[in-house]
Amino acid sequence: MKIVVIGGTGLIGSQVVRLLTAAGHDGVAAAPNTGVDTITGAGLTQVLTGADVVVDVSNSPSFERDAAVEFFRTSTGNLVAAEQAAGVAHHVALSVVGTGELAVESGYFAAKQVQEELIAASGVPYSIVHATQFYEFITGIINAATAGTVVRLAPVDIQPIASADVAAAVAAAAVEPPLNGIGDIAGPQRFRLDELARAVLAERQDPRTVHTDPTALYWGAHLQTDTLTPGAGATLSETRFADWQLAAANPR
Ligand SMILES: NC(=O)c1ccc[n+]([C@@H]2O[C@H](COP(=O)([O-])OP(=O)(O)OC[C@H]3O[C@@H](n4cnc5c(N)ncnc54)[C@H](OP(=O)(O)O)[C@@H]3O)[C@@H](O)[C@H]2O)c1
Repeated sequence: MKIVVIGGTGLIGSQVVRLLTAAGHDGVAAAPNTGVDTITGAGLTQVLTGADVVVDVSNSPSFERDAAVEFFRTSTGNLVAAEQAAGVAHHVALSVVGTGELAVESGYFAAKQVQEELIAASGVPYSIVHATQFYEFITGIINAATAGTVVRLAPVDIQPIASADVAAAVAAAAVEPPLNGIGDIAGPQRFRLDELARAVLAERQDPRTVHTDPTALYWGAHLQTDTLTPGAGATLSETRFADWQLAAANPR
């Protein structure tokens, strides 16, 4: 199959293209630096010619509310219109566990919600993969919660996942029939967000201190204990956080 991966040069997208190519598909990386821009529409008609499936793992360059909403509204609108014109049979997108709940207060998640709603209303058969936070993103969560030397995080559950396992789930979704719905994927272990951050900083001998604060915001949103955890029936991946850390510290 010809499978076009929008955001195919990013963290998840580059791994998805590699997996699809290794499985014998024509996996095509599409991103601004390969000449495809879903905001301007440049290169979209050409790259979708003959495509069976489109995987969208792009991301907004800005997480600020207006910019992120504008990105996902314009990008997804242009994409599904071009898919309809090209006769694409399946649209696969990557979004985040808890998006609906987080979207009430968080601008970035309001943008992801817009993306999901446009896909569901598009008429193109679709699958939305809802993943929990990537192991690679935990540093980003800590940095976003830092003021000076203090990291304020809520004592809530988190069940993060290796990006390689997310990429494998997205690639599998691309070659399976459309769900016309959402499937959750998460890592094998549940942690408490503040405790995980404390352990990560200690391991790195990072001098910042983590203050446990139930009112701390996560990308602008208050968290309940289970906001970041997957629903019943989620697919759980195998890579444990400590094993991922070992591999990340000792690249082959
Ligand atoms: N971080 C997490 O923990 C997490 C958890 C669950 C789900 N997700 C979702 O996973 C998705 C992918 O995340 P990621 O970390 O792999 O992203 P990433 O590494 O930042 O990659 C983003 C990709 O989007 C491309 N892109 C940006 N603007 C574009 C445009 N106008 N047209 C076409 N492509 C464009 C980028 O291309 P250039 O590099 O050329 O700009 C890049 O290839 C996101 O939608 C995010 O919401 C993330």
